[in-house]
Amino acid sequence: MIIAIDGPAASGKGTLGKRLAAHYKLRHLDTGLLYRAVAKALLDAGHPPSDRARAIAAAQAIDPARFDEAALKQYEVGEAASVVSAIPEVRAALFNLQQEFAAAPPGAVLDGRDIGTVICPNAEVKIFVTASAEQRARRRTLELQGRGERADEAAVLADILARDQRDRSRAAAPLLQAADAHLLDTTHLDIDAAFRAAVAIVEAARAG
Ligand code: DC
Repeated sequence: MIIAIDGPAASGKGTLGKRLAAHYKLRHLDTGLLYRAVAKALLDAGHPPSDRARAIAAAQAIDPARFDEAALKQYEVGEAASVVSAIPEVRAALFNLQQEFAAAPPGAVLDGRDIGTVICPNAEVKIFVTASAEQRARRRTLELQGRGERADEAAVLADILARDQRDRSRAAAPLLQAADAHLLDTTHLDIDAAFRAAVAIVEAARAG
């Protein structure tokens, strides 16, 4: 079984993906980490994320086995990832890796922006996770503060709105709800309630 989860920044799709994978004993790939790794390679070398040639070369060279997830989850890496992910050749360089991950038995949960539309259009279950921008900003601020990072909620909200706009309006594989994806709005749900709602979607899809 392949479960495709898409949604905007800080919608909770990563946490849901992890829990669904554990529940159904599937492998899990947070595809945002791939774009974050490309962005971090550029930032670490002192190059802007808009440097196309270097971003493409970095995408061709990434090795998920060596990812430092905590470092990739840093705020500025996410912002830079949104920039490199708009480069079509970067997306193309990461395409096979994602498809191969999804295809290997016993199946997988992938979360990102274009899983249900581009990477796994034939996934058995597609969930589009969303929440209001204000709620996502609140959650992301608390998460950053919990990690000891300085975060101002108004600034985080402004960044989330800008990132939504960039991820939705780019020409290459924009953030989009697939026609056959189930919408899961977590604005008023805590993580346990969101997980139960996601399991209900999976069970209904499996029952046909
Ligand atoms: O989900 P995230 O915050 O880790 O993603 C970081 C950026 O990577 C996001 O702003 C857009 C990009 N991304 C993408 O374009 N396609 C994906 N499948 C996953 C992430």
